[in-house]
Amino acid sequence: MIINNLDHAKRVLESNKNLIIPTETVYGLAGNIYSEEAISNIYELKKRPRNNPLIVHISSSEAMNLVAKDIPDVAYKLAEKFWPGALTLVLNKKDTVSDIITAGKSSVAVRVPNHKTTLELLDLLDFPLAAPSANPFGTISPTSAAHAYRYFEDTVDILDGGKCELGIESTIIGFENETPTIYRLGSLSVEEIEYHLGGIEIKNNDNSSPIAPGMMQKHYAPNTPLLLTDNVYKAIEGNKAKRIGLLLSNSDYTDNEKSTIIIINNKSNKTGAAKNLYSDLHQLDNLNLDMIIAEKWDESGLGKSINDRLTRASYNQKETNEFFTSA
Ligand code: TXA
Ligand code: MG
Repeated sequence: MIINNLDHAKRVLESNKNLIIPTETVYGLAGNIYSEEAISNIYELKKRPRNNPLIVHISSSEAMNLVAKDIPDVAYKLAEKFWPGALTLVLNKKDTVSDIITAGKSSVAVRVPNHKTTLELLDLLDFPLAAPSANPFGTISPTSAAHAYRYFEDTVDILDGGKCELGIESTIIGFENETPTIYRLGSLSVEEIEYHLGGIEIKNNDNSSPIAPGMMQKHYAPNTPLLLTDNVYKAIEGNKAKRIGLLLSNSDYTDNEKSTIIIINNKSNKTGAAKNLYSDLHQLDNLNLDMIIAEKWDESGLGKSINDRLTRASYNQKETNEFFTSA
């Protein structure tokens, strides 16, 4: 059921049931961090491997101390600058945080989401909420209550908070010997972080032993094969697919004589493209297309994060190859 009532939301969570909550990045599948039942159910509902830890959502930076210890000064500095917001900090965990949440790690991921309804809800509760994105493992994240409903129907109540303002998951930062390192690119751009901290290392692609296991290569994937290219004309020319969805960053492709082409053009607007990225993919994926062709962005600002998600969504490139005459 899609709900609007905060008292109802509070009762659901206090009875150790799960609730889908809005955030400014994507919708999250939430549960009381102190309830083993609620946390176990998150993994069951998502079919998520138990080695992939969850993010803990708190109502303000003061609550960091509930779940984390030995917090480095630079983490406080980042929290002060960017919370509430699309930044997740990986900190040393306190013993009170269960190993199921952290997948046995000695660290815990924490953030204060920037969404009015969810902040109000967190204030009403006397426990933080663990919440991964509200989608089955490996699929496209939900950025509206309707997306989440399509995945979970009436198995979990959904608190409606409208369309997510940012549309891509939070940026994750960990501290190695107190040196900040980006583990996952996200809605907070590298440039914004560097503006306050100076140069920062990015360890976003370590697939063999992922620090943030959600960074495994195939992720955020539509069912329709997706090709990521920086030359849309060439990708369409050598292509046998009859029904194509085109997700453009800035080209003006209009020719649709050859195939049925559905075009979504973001016209160089990165903020808008990030906000709409998952809803565009959900939309194209529901049209029974042969393939989706997405045009790469330049790597500055949010372009880097959008390209990261599109690269992971295009991991089934082998399937897309069959549409090329010269594969
Ligand atoms: O924007 C977001 O971060 C959304 C909203 C709901 O807050 N949440 C989200 O959660 O994207 P999820 O579970 O889809 O992704 C969490 C990521 C995973 O890649 C996980 O591996 C990483 O956070 N993570 C969690 N705890 C960690 C830890 N202790 N150390 C390193 N990575 C961790
Ligand atoms: Mg996720």
